[in-house]
This record gives sequence, C-alpha cells and structure tokens, in this order.
Amino acid sequence: MKQIYDTIVIGTGIAGLTAAIHLKEAGQNVIVLTKNDKVSECNTNYAQGGIIAYRPDDSAEALEKDILYAGCYYNNKQAVATLANEGPKLVFDFLINKIGIQFSTNDAGQLDYTEEAAHSQRRILHYQDHTGDKIESSLIAYAQKIGITILPGHTAIDLITNNHHSTDNQELYKPREVMGVYALNNATGEVVTFFASNVILATGGVGNLFQYTTNPASATGDGISMAYRAGADIINAEFVQFHPTALFHKDLKRFLISESLRGEGAKLLNHNGEQFMSKYSPLKELAPRDVVARAIYEEINTTGKEYVLLDLAHYYTGTKPIEERFYKIYHTCKEVGLDITKDPIPVVPAAHFFCGGIKVDNNGRASVRNLYAVGEVSCTGLHGANRLASDSLLEGMLWGKRAADDIIANGNHITGKRFDCIPDWRQPADSIEFDKLLIYQDWNAIKLTMWNYTGIVRTRTGLARASADLNYYYHRIIKFYKEAKLNRDIIELRNGIVTAQLIVSAAIHNDKSLGCHFIKD
Ligand code: SIN
Repeated sequence: MKQIYDTIVIGTGIAGLTAAIHLKEAGQNVIVLTKNDKVSECNTNYAQGGIIAYRPDDSAEALEKDILYAGCYYNNKQAVATLANEGPKLVFDFLINKIGIQFSTNDAGQLDYTEEAAHSQRRILHYQDHTGDKIESSLIAYAQKIGITILPGHTAIDLITNNHHSTDNQELYKPREVMGVYALNNATGEVVTFFASNVILATGGVGNLFQYTTNPASATGDGISMAYRAGADIINAEFVQFHPTALFHKDLKRFLISESLRGEGAKLLNHNGEQFMSKYSPLKELAPRDVVARAIYEEINTTGKEYVLLDLAHYYTGTKPIEERFYKIYHTCKEVGLDITKDPIPVVPAAHFFCGGIKVDNNGRASVRNLYAVGEVSCTGLHGANRLASDSLLEGMLWGKRAADDIIANGNHITGKRFDCIPDWRQPADSIEFDKLLIYQDWNAIKLTMWNYTGIVRTRTGLARASADLNYYYHRIIKFYKEAKLNRDIIELRNGIVTAQLIVSAAIHNDKSLGCHFIKD
C-alpha cells in the first residue's frame, strides 16, 4: 500500500505536533505517525517541571548565560542565541494565545514562574507538576480540530532514500534524498510505504537503552538509528543526561521527582541525615544536573546505601499546599505509601535526556536532503555537554516551528515518477515468529551494559568492554532481525542496539570529561 504526502512527521511530542500544526495551517498535506497505540504516549507527556517562558524582567542574555554555563560552554552559540531570543516569547504566542494552554497561577492570579537548577531567574511556567500532559493533550486537541491525520500503531522501520531503494539506477548517482518511510502497521503486520517530499523525525530520546530511566518504554533511540542508516550525521552522542532524582521504590519504575521540588526548597540528605550538596558545589541543590547526579552517585557509593533522600516536607518554600503544587508526585507517592508532605523521598539518578542526536542546522535540517529532525532526537547543539532544566520542551516547540517554516519556504517537491521507482517492502516468506523472551533477554543485556559501563561515571576499561559486548549483541540481533517476522519489538531492538553502539563509540572517542560525559580514569 502506498500513500503520498507533502510532509511526514514521525512522533507526537511537542516538537512533532508543533511542526505538523504549522505545516497544516500553511496548506500542506501532512500526516503524523506514531508507533504507540495511544497518541499521547511520548516523553512530552511525562514532563513535570515546566517550560522556560518570557518574563519582562528577564533577558535573552541572562538565559544564554545560564544555558552556556550548564552546557559547559560546549554549546552551539547560534542555537543558544536563537532559543534565548525567540523561544520564551513563542510560549505566549503559540502555547498560550493560540493553543489556549492555561499555566498555573499564583495567589494573586498571575502566572506562576518556578525555579529549577542552574537558572539565575524564576522563569519557568508550569501546570502544577504535570506540565507535559497539559501541553500534550492541548496540542493533540488542536491538531485534531484543524484536521491533521495522526496515525497511531505504525512503527517506522526505515527511511526511504533514492540511493538505497530506487530501482532507477540513475538515482544512485544523485545526492542522497529522503523520500518517505516504510512503516509497520502493528496490528495487521502489513508494511505501508509512506512517500513524502519532506520527512521530520520527532521520535524522542534514548532512555530505555539504560537499565534505569525516567522515560516511557517507547524511548528506544529509533530516530537516531534510522537517520544513521540513511547516512545522516549523528553528533554529541556521548552526552546522556541522568536526572538526579527518580523515585527509588520497589513498586514503581523510576518515577520522576521533578527538579522543581529543589527549586521550591527541597534538600538532599544522606542516610546520616546530613545535607551533602555543599561538598560538591556552591550552588548546592541547584547546581547543574550532571553535578547533582554525580554527587548522589558518590554518596551512594561511599555510604553503601541504595539511595539518598530528598526532603521537601521540612524545607518547602512555596505558598500553595504541597498536595496542590506537586499534585502528581504527591498522589503517585501516596499510592505506594509515601506521604511527601511528611516523609523524605528515596531518590536515585536515572537516564533522562539525550543531549546529542541527529546533527541539524538552525532550521532543523539534517545532513541528508529532505530530512529534518526536531526535539530530543535532534542535536541543534543547544545543550552542549549538559542540558539546562526546562529548555527541552521549548527547544522542541521552537525547532518544530522553524523546521515547518523552512519546509513551507524552501521545502522539496518530489514528482510522482520518482516515487514509482521505489518498490514495496519485501518481507521474506520464510520469516519466523520468535519467542518474546529472546527479545527481552537481548534488551536486558543492552540496558545493563549501558547502565554499568556508559552511565553517570565511566571508565575507559568499561567503555571498551561495552563496545565489545555491544558488537557481539549487534551481530546476533541483526541476524535475528533478518530472520524474524517483523513486529514493533524487533524493530525497536534493532534500533536500540545501533543507537547504543553510537553512544559508546562517541564516549570512547571523547577522552575528555565534560558535563554529562564523565570519565573517571
Ligand atoms: C524535571 O521536572 O525535573 C524535568 C524537567 C526537565 O527535564 O527539564
């Protein structure tokens, strides 16, 4: 089955939906694909803290300074200046005035700006502590209102390029161009050929390549791996950010405990009841994330305990009751018997955000023609070696718009004849339906390797071991992929192993500790 669009967007988070909305409103024939059955299932939906927004007494220069400091000055200065100058106002123009999102207000009825680590200003708008699902549901409602087709349950397999797929041998001698995507209909097993003159990857991050993560299960590095196979440049892959505070609890898988708790006064304590952050940074609890994550790692290692404690109850500085300000965290913890208005919260670091990704320019263009990447899957260079809190939703929204604007102004138009030379997907007739346990075991091997050897603190020996082990898994998984009857699990596993190798390889090739790439020896 073949379908032709002006633009295909893969991914339904803030970056993908923002791009799709702008394209649709400019009259483009656009479709949004997601591998998930639920359209809202993406990292955006789980964002807690908030989004950096304009306030009159702040300045672009102050924001630039904070982003560069958190990023260890490894950032792309052009991307930083673009975000600082254009991003905060776009929150008002797009999210508030157009999409109609109402962020939380203070007792005086004014927008409530909160604080997170390494910000010199309270400049983050939030909706209680579940800003992401407010943004996500509002964007989906708006997209549906203006008639955007969003197709759930379709897992992208590979980008289609002229060089790789065309049966016209002359296409081999032309510059490489993306022409669409092969995607699996998860329910029927059919592979659909989606053609487009432009493809935007907005597939999110890599959290699930690690044993412990704050990300939903769908964050398996798909876009990175697909873009890499198509020949796009991937950069800064060694910079995986670990969030310092995920809940440590046997019944809950690393539920995020937002940095905004520390922004509203919460303190980190070790098992002797000591506040330890002053040993690690004069900014204490509000030091950049990489510093706090390493401090917790160190405390855990030296005390031999499995977690540290985050005490909000005794240090809260907010005016709203904790149950209201931190609604989601309060209720989620309550369900497992933890009352955050009274008890300190057991926390550990967990993989959270990928600062590297598909190298893109200031308009989201990747290094292969007709391919764009926006949001976490992309690397604009904004984050440098470590991301500043609450700028990822903003980056996704801004580059989603910039990519759409670029497509509207300069986008490609492929004629039907060239599409005619792209064959349908061929699935071998003798493919085998494998036991899920095989996939599960391979994932466990990848996740443990990444967590143990490519985690918060790395060693050269560990990275070399990771590289050798992943190389072995890669060959086994690719053989398995070729023999298996296609399904979402096997597609994700193939993407996961490729992305894991890219991260380890980048970590081995950068022998300087910087930001969230920390080598001990
Ligand atoms: C948080 O709420 O701590 C996460 C915010 C972010 O990742 O920027």
